[in-house]
Amino acid sequence: MSIWTKVPKKSMESTVEDIMDMPAPEDKGPRIIAVANQKGGVGKTTTAINLATALAAVKQKVLIIDLDPQGNASTGIGVDRKNRRLDTYRMLIGGTKLSDAVQKSNVPGLDIVPAGMDLSGAELELVGMDNREHQLKIAIGDGAQGYDYVLIDCPPALGLLTLNALVAAQAILVPLQCEFFALEGLSHLLKTVERVQQVFNPELEIQGIVLTMFDKRNNLSDQVAADVREYFGDKVYKTVIPRNVRVSEAPSHGRPVLMYDMKCAGAQAYLHLAGEVLRREGHVSV
Ligand SMILES: Nc1ncnc2c1ncn2[C@@H]1O[C@H](COP(=O)(O)OP(=O)(O)O)[C@@H](O)[C@H]1O
Ligand SMILES: [Mg+2]
Repeated sequence: MSIWTKVPKKSMESTVEDIMDMPAPEDKGPRIIAVANQKGGVGKTTTAINLATALAAVKQKVLIIDLDPQGNASTGIGVDRKNRRLDTYRMLIGGTKLSDAVQKSNVPGLDIVPAGMDLSGAELELVGMDNREHQLKIAIGDGAQGYDYVLIDCPPALGLLTLNALVAAQAILVPLQCEFFALEGLSHLLKTVERVQQVFNPELEIQGIVLTMFDKRNNLSDQVAADVREYFGDKVYKTVIPRNVRVSEAPSHGRPVLMYDMKCAGAQAYLHLAGEVLRREGHVSV
């Protein structure tokens, strides 16, 4: 039995079923989205895993490319270190093609290229390579054709790994934690995006900015959220991901929160986010 048939109907009524009824867009090929922010601990991996799972839940074929040497996205969807065969390091440095590196995850409809520890050496090894910013794009080639969405989980730095992601991607999705220096970090990130657009990838778009770990009891959260919306307007998703202990428990069970506790506020927020992403990608006329 598919896990999705076990999903309590009511909890998904307003999102998943709406989305499933949406007319499918014409097949534009895979949409490659880098989930990036140079700050650590802001919810990149959590967003990559749970957005990917929510998209898979509405019948999208999804791939995560784990580009963080910590490999948290791989662990978080149940791909243990001992089961990681070919990884993103081999794609970047060893000439391995995407189709050879892909593995199934615990989540139906969601595949992954896992990350191993040796990815931490890739930054240095890339420095001396020709076309060092393009290695991920080259390795992906046309190997992502079978997918609707490819999410790249970036490491917490604006080094060569993240640069490879931004060159390979068509769009960037930025998780932003509502804290004091958030805006400063965001403007630095967006300057990098501009440079990438000018030099390497003129097509790169900003899919959106998602506010994460929002704590409604904290006035600062509100203030930062208001500032971010004032500066970035519609680029900020309406959906806000609340701070929710179930979200942080899920990875230790090797599951996305959507499979750990579908009804909790965090899981529901990621379903709403998926709905917004799909709308922005033209899945429904709004
Ligand atoms: N909405 C949330 N509620 C509670 N904890 C969260 C939430 N989102 C992320 N976390 C936790 O915060 C930590 C950092 O999140 P993570 O996604 O790993 O950030 P990043 O990939 O940007 O470093 C993790 O322990 C994660 O489980
Ligand atoms: Mg991470």
